[in-house]
Amino acid sequence: MADVQTPQVSKGLEGIYIDESSICKVDGQAGKLYYRGYPIEAVCKNASYEEVAFLLLNGRLPNKAELDDITKTMAKERDLPDGVIQIIKEMNGKAHPMDTLRSAFSALSAYDKEVTDQSSEANMRKAIRIISKVSSIVAAIGRLQKGQPYIKPDTTLDHVTNFLYMLNGRKPTQLEYNIVKDMFILHAEHSSNASTFGTLVAASTMADMYAAVTAGIATLKGPLHGGADEAALKMMGQIGNPNNTEQYIEDALAGKQKIMGFGHRVYKTYDPRARIVRDYLLQIKDSSSPEVRTYTEIALRAEKLMIDKLGASKGIWPNIDFFAGPIYLAAGVPADLFTPIFAASRSVGWTAHVLEYWQNNRIFRPLEIYTGKVDLQYVPIDKRA
Ligand code: ACO
Repeated sequence: MADVQTPQVSKGLEGIYIDESSICKVDGQAGKLYYRGYPIEAVCKNASYEEVAFLLLNGRLPNKAELDDITKTMAKERDLPDGVIQIIKEMNGKAHPMDTLRSAFSALSAYDKEVTDQSSEANMRKAIRIISKVSSIVAAIGRLQKGQPYIKPDTTLDHVTNFLYMLNGRKPTQLEYNIVKDMFILHAEHSSNASTFGTLVAASTMADMYAAVTAGIATLKGPLHGGADEAALKMMGQIGNPNNTEQYIEDALAGKQKIMGFGHRVYKTYDPRARIVRDYLLQIKDSSSPEVRTYTEIALRAEKLMIDKLGASKGIWPNIDFFAGPIYLAAGVPADLFTPIFAASRSVGWTAHVLEYWQNNRIFRPLEIYTGKVDLQYVPIDKRA
């Protein structure tokens, strides 16, 4: 029997509850996801991204006047300071877009007069400002890395249309819009995942909201979290020919490699977001782009094999990031912008959690079990071996 005095370590905080929250429920056994109580399928089908932002920030659906108001405010806040555009230009071609986003976003705090105002009204205004501007930064990064000039936001367009307009210099087709709008909504929030936890750790010190979201962006980058979407597409590129899919996966699993875009700490069944994204694969499988057709076939064959091998036996199923690559490519979004777009979208969840956490703040300060030595004799440097 375990000694009750022995502290138990939970690596990766697995199974640890850090707080109560009414923002999002992830039911990992049933494969269900709710934003403020609404099933994700209904949210995705009916809401705009602006409506999802209102819902997650305020805890209820907006009425018409409130939706108009947040839509106009988000449009008004889209513009970027020249200094931030300069940072993007300076880092263009030298850094991964996630690194450029992290730096450019962090610099935004210099231009916000309310940065240290911790009133709940100012914090809500900052949340909306942040949500608006992160998308503009990502669009600017994508635009400049194609060697094309920065396009100023168009305040007459909705959030997602404006994002694609700033990125591509034209309005999206209906399919492009639907794909990117759904990805923005599906990535908007997902309870206390690594990047939201990272955001909250920074926020819990009463650092400002820009510092907290910068921590979120930094944490999202890794391939075990938000970076999995780009990594999954890279793997599909290495597979190259759909007929190589099964052998590639078998070899990777035999070599104890993880297949990016599969598995989840909470979902032990099919990720409900991945189901929605997968529906788009069926819409693009006959795309006029050979690249999109190839990636789509690889994704569907890899999914089948992985589910046969590890689905029921190990609870490893596709997560949202596995199918993101082919559908983003079909929408004209390059691979290194997948995770930055994820960040733009998740800025809603991060700021909603910060607002909620600050209502009853307590600094995060967990413990560790020290396994080193104590009371060593200090040796002067000229006496050390
Ligand atoms: N491919 C193959 N095997 C896997 C995978 C995978 N993608 N994911 C987990 N496993 C196996 C592990 O090798 C391990 O096997 P073992 O018990 O034989 O050692 C077992 O499943 C448990 O895996 P852990 O890594 O301990 O599970 P954890 O809960 O810590 O990790 C995580 C979850 C990080 C998502 C993991 O499944 C993973 O690395 N997946 C690939 C990266 C990915 O897709 N991340 C995106 C997640 S969704 C998101 O963040 C938006």
